[in-house]
Amino acid sequence: MSRYKRTSVKKPVYLLDTTLREGEQTPGVAFTIEQKLEIARKLDEAGIDMIEAGHPAVAPDVEKAVRLIVKEGLQAEIIGHSRAVKTDIEKAAECEVDRIAIFYGVSDIHLKYKHKVSREEALQIIAEHIEFAKSHGVKVRFTAEDASRTDIDFLIQVVKTAHEAGADRVSLADTVGILTPFRAKMLFETVKKAVPTVELDVHAHNDLGMAVANSLAAFEGGATAIHVTINGIGERCGIASLQEVAVALKVHYNIDTVDLRKLPELSKLVEKYTGIVLPPHAPVVGDNAFVHKAGVHVAGVLANPQTYEPYPPELVGRTRDWVIDKYTGKKAVKARLEKLGVQVTDQELELIVRKIKERTSVRHWRDEDLLELVEEVTGRRVMLRPPEKLEALVWIKCESNIYTTAIARRIAAIPGVVEVMEITGEYDIVARVSVRDQAELNNIVETIREVKGVQSTHTQLVLKKLET
Ligand code: COA
Ligand code: ZN
Repeated sequence: MSRYKRTSVKKPVYLLDTTLREGEQTPGVAFTIEQKLEIARKLDEAGIDMIEAGHPAVAPDVEKAVRLIVKEGLQAEIIGHSRAVKTDIEKAAECEVDRIAIFYGVSDIHLKYKHKVSREEALQIIAEHIEFAKSHGVKVRFTAEDASRTDIDFLIQVVKTAHEAGADRVSLADTVGILTPFRAKMLFETVKKAVPTVELDVHAHNDLGMAVANSLAAFEGGATAIHVTINGIGERCGIASLQEVAVALKVHYNIDTVDLRKLPELSKLVEKYTGIVLPPHAPVVGDNAFVHKAGVHVAGVLANPQTYEPYPPELVGRTRDWVIDKYTGKKAVKARLEKLGVQVTDQELELIVRKIKERTSVRHWRDEDLLELVEEVTGRRVMLRPPEKLEALVWIKCESNIYTTAIARRIAAIPGVVEVMEITGEYDIVARVSVRDQAELNNIVETIREVKGVQSTHTQLVLKKLET
């Protein structure tokens, strides 16, 4: 590969994305080769430094995907994963990857129960396989699996052995996610001090929710590459997420890694291909990440967004908003009405806010509801459309790889949807929708169709309703 690689430029820290390898180890996830190519291309466009494209010995389609990703000629360094097994290494080398990453469990638990070898034998196996990989003319990373539960003196011996055998990078994996940030920093500082010429990667699992914090702490301790996946997917609870690590590196250390504005798109792509939808409060890319609610917060944000935002949404290509419900205050409502081109007096505003707080059955005040309330309170006409109600039933077919309940929850959150039922038969979900006109109905149906996992819809207008 003579093409320029981003890793040929020295940076304070590289990001290694392993969505295609670690991410595909997520239960229920299997990317097609086309999807892998698309993800790899999009990661490369965003400026990722390294892509761990897969473990070619796992299955023929994994091998094929790795081969094709290599052929794309991306600027990211392409890595093939491998056990310390010669046939695995040969397969990865045949794919012509830039680097082979050889992993081996080095804690006593792994040595005793998995590999059934002594520490001395393990060192020999590690050295032998790294040398074998190097003989194929590729760069080699060694991953000390379960490093965080490995006796520190032995771990240093492992890192030295791997480095001397030809691995310029060694990854210290917190395989079961048991580090704390303090211990992570200490671990990396200790190893780096003992083997100063080696470059260290951190691979932090998220079993205790600390993968991002531990990755940053490892970076502070001397790691120069952080392993991430889009949306943090991976074995069990996954690993550090690309979006959280990339933004945290910018916010805390002013380090530029990938194009942060591309993160929402990458996240959505992986939600679509995995069927795993992030919750609305997910950092960076979640629907609510820049949506404010409490009156005090909105008043603060209107005065200066810094009051309740750690960084501006524009940094990640997003915009801010606020919602109106019983938690609202006068400033939030006034600003929302001004946005809608409506002026009210101070007394009217007081009354509007009081009524909003009384009508607690409304979970989310849409602009139309708010304008209707303004008309009720002020007696002035502020709405363009006559307030008629139109009801419709939207029958929804779902894709089989996404939990129906997750889709139903998303649909239930769409303003205008008043009821959602999971059903048996030809359709999976039926939603009852209450709207003012055909245009609004079209919008809602479009929004439903955009929900991840919705395959098709069939809409029926309600002509008449009989009370029972
Ligand atoms: N280096 C060398 N050997 C290793 C190893 C390593 N890092 N990690 C595990 N092994 C060995 C085990 O000791 C065991 O060997 P044994 O069969 O001689 O007891 C074997 O690999 C794992 O058992 P099993 O999965 O039953 O072996 P297999 O030959 O049927 O399949 C794979 C091996 C790798 C093809 C298969 O497990 C697979 O597709 N795995 C997906 C990738 C993966 O597990 N990745 C882990 C990333 S952290
Ligand atoms: Zn892992």
